[in-house]
Amino acid sequence: MTQRAKFSAIVMAAGQGTRMHSDLPKVLHPLLGRPMVSFPVSAALEAGAERVVVVLGHGRDAVSSSLAERFDGRVVSALQEAQRGTGDAARCALPALEDIDGRVVILCGDTPLLTSGCVGALVDRASAEGAKLAMLTSVLDDASGYGRIIRDGEGHITAIREHRDCSEAERAIGEWNPGVFCVEAGFLRATLDTLSADNDQGELYLTDLVERAAGDSRVAALPWPAADLHGINDRNQLIACERILRLRQAEALGRAGVTLRDPEGSFIDADVQLGRDVTLEAGVQLRGKTRIGDGVHIDVGCVLTNVTVATGTRLLPYTVASDSQVGAGAQLGPFSHLRPGNELGDGVRIGNFVELKKIRMDQGSKANHLAYLGDGDIGRGVNVGAGTIFCNYDGVMKHKTVLEDGVFIGSDSQLVAPITIGKDAYVATGTTVTQDVPSEALAIGRARQQNKAGLATRLWQRLRAQAARAKK
Ligand code: UD1
Ligand code: CA
Repeated sequence: MTQRAKFSAIVMAAGQGTRMHSDLPKVLHPLLGRPMVSFPVSAALEAGAERVVVVLGHGRDAVSSSLAERFDGRVVSALQEAQRGTGDAARCALPALEDIDGRVVILCGDTPLLTSGCVGALVDRASAEGAKLAMLTSVLDDASGYGRIIRDGEGHITAIREHRDCSEAERAIGEWNPGVFCVEAGFLRATLDTLSADNDQGELYLTDLVERAAGDSRVAALPWPAADLHGINDRNQLIACERILRLRQAEALGRAGVTLRDPEGSFIDADVQLGRDVTLEAGVQLRGKTRIGDGVHIDVGCVLTNVTVATGTRLLPYTVASDSQVGAGAQLGPFSHLRPGNELGDGVRIGNFVELKKIRMDQGSKANHLAYLGDGDIGRGVNVGAGTIFCNYDGVMKHKTVLEDGVFIGSDSQLVAPITIGKDAYVATGTTVTQDVPSEALAIGRARQQNKAGLATRLWQRLRAQAARAKK
């Protein structure tokens, strides 16, 4: 395969998106956890664009900071003060492309299904045909609303006519303009300044470039399936497009060795990474920058946000975790809750109704049932019994609990932080620990039990008699 010709890209994203009925700019609405506009930008970059200029208008600050965060220097913003049409939007990008030669691909910010393969194919078609202008074309039974592609008697494209400017006969044309162009930089610069707003909307139409290019050369056309070209104007289209992206993603994961038991009901953000031999049961949600190692099994209903899980770990049903790291061969759940800031070593076990926050726990330690552990440093081979509470908060400040290697914490103990339990120490069940426990010591702090012979029988009699009197 010969090397692809040099090109840059313009992504037009200044429009308001009124039909979203949203305070969030349309192009920032997320699909697979990524802002809409990042999809066409990524498609252009992955196809090899040297530079991508995004034209901003509505919500410009939010959009430009979102782009900066995701793409740093490879994407630059241009500003379109007033939305005077797609021709004007493209013109606003030109100063950012002054030093560029080759071709410029022009895309819309609201078409997240467009792939890098499609962008690349359009650039290749333009250079193979030496075309000033190449465009995608597509066909629908009813292309209402879209610009229609006008061809001459020999089948060459001569113009694009917007729906509202079309004659009755032209409205019957099913071939429509997806709005993706690849234009020679020189021709683009020379032509964009000369567009007129002589149309029904009084806007500057980018599509008028087609008629100009057709005047003295041939417009190259690349037919493409409409399924990849859907644009988003409202929330229903947003959800429909996200669904298509999820099914594409599920297929790619399947090819990469991931078993996704319920592709329709699982939500995996685009930036999540999954290893080989990972199995996801139904209703799993993996968000943000979650990383899942080889051979991990994630059971029904788990929700992980920015969590790293190492090889071979099992997450039992309904484990909820965020901003945490989990070692290899560990087991979490069912119903474990990891709040942010945990670092759990290899082979740890966290069981049902255990809540963790900012806990470092070394290899092989366990908290299997009903516990709150917050702000703690737990060594190796520690066993935290059922009902243990790290009392980390005094109402004003948070304090730390340290459990050294080999510690045993009996059930229903409260550890009042700041506190340190030394290596191999033992805290007896039901102890409220308020002083540090030295290494190898036994801490026991509870009232002594007394057994009173026969007293239970007398107690029963008294209680039953009381109940009988109350009934009368
Ligand atoms: C445009 C095309 C139409 C095509 C359709 C495909 C023109 C004149 N028409 O129509 O032929 O079939 O797309 O979806 O180009 N934008 C700006 N600044 C503006 C105006 C628009 O940045 O001043 C951006 C919008 O944010 C959007 C894109 O350009 O991302 C397309 O604009 P939109 O108004 O949706 O174009 P259509 O009228 O749908
Ligand atoms: Ca419009």
